[in-house]
Amino acid sequence: MTESSGGDRLQKVLARTGLASRRACEELIAEGRVTVNAEVAELGRRVDPRVDVIEVDGALVPVAPGLVHYLLNKPMGVLSTAADTHGRPTVVELVPPDPRVFPVGRLDSDTEGLLVLTNDGELAHRLTHPSFGVDKEYLAHVRGDPNPVALRRLREGVELDDGATAPARVTRVDEGVLRITIHEGRNRQVRRMCEAVGHPVLRLVRTRIGPLADRRLKPGEWRPLEAGEVRALAAAATEGRRQHHH
Ligand code: URA
Repeated sequence: MTESSGGDRLQKVLARTGLASRRACEELIAEGRVTVNAEVAELGRRVDPRVDVIEVDGALVPVAPGLVHYLLNKPMGVLSTAADTHGRPTVVELVPPDPRVFPVGRLDSDTEGLLVLTNDGELAHRLTHPSFGVDKEYLAHVRGDPNPVALRRLREGVELDDGATAPARVTRVDEGVLRITIHEGRNRQVRRMCEAVGHPVLRLVRTRIGPLADRRLKPGEWRPLEAGEVRALAAAATEGRRQHHH
């Protein structure tokens, strides 16, 4: 769509998402903080919400009609991929079938905890791309009780067969229970890190994805993300990009 033809005015589209009042959205545009398809937008330009990629301060604003974002507490034993499951249960079977959604990233089948499912391909891409590095926090119940040396190794990075891990935030919350925050997303990373320092994981639960946490959501339960949570998630993906690229 060209700028002057059909579609809705940008400030109207932005205001409709609940971001801010129409007036405040006009100010954001006038201040040059809004881009459409990666170009700074002029006040009054028209956009096609179905196809145009709109960002405020670099954070994606989901404007396409029909986008849904769910937060699921994945139970143990459920796969977070849809392909080749040999009839085993998958996370998409735990949320509404329509519209079709897919998980953002993966949890091991034996890992529990928070997982986002969405049909918002652009946001999913940003969240899973390593350069955005959104923090993920895990509660790991491990064999034995890691001593300060083991904790320091986990914090500073451990050598795995696919390279050393980046520094992690690690706290011992109880005997044999660690809270571990990482921003990489390598295959079975937390399990391999703990194994590498001599404390294999017995139970692993993801308790936070960037700004998203929910202690009340029980395994197998899901809920839609609130508009503010979607915005916070989009903003977290932006911060990750700044932090790791510049
Ligand atoms: N680290 C793991 O080892 N497993 C997961 O499912 C997620 C992070």
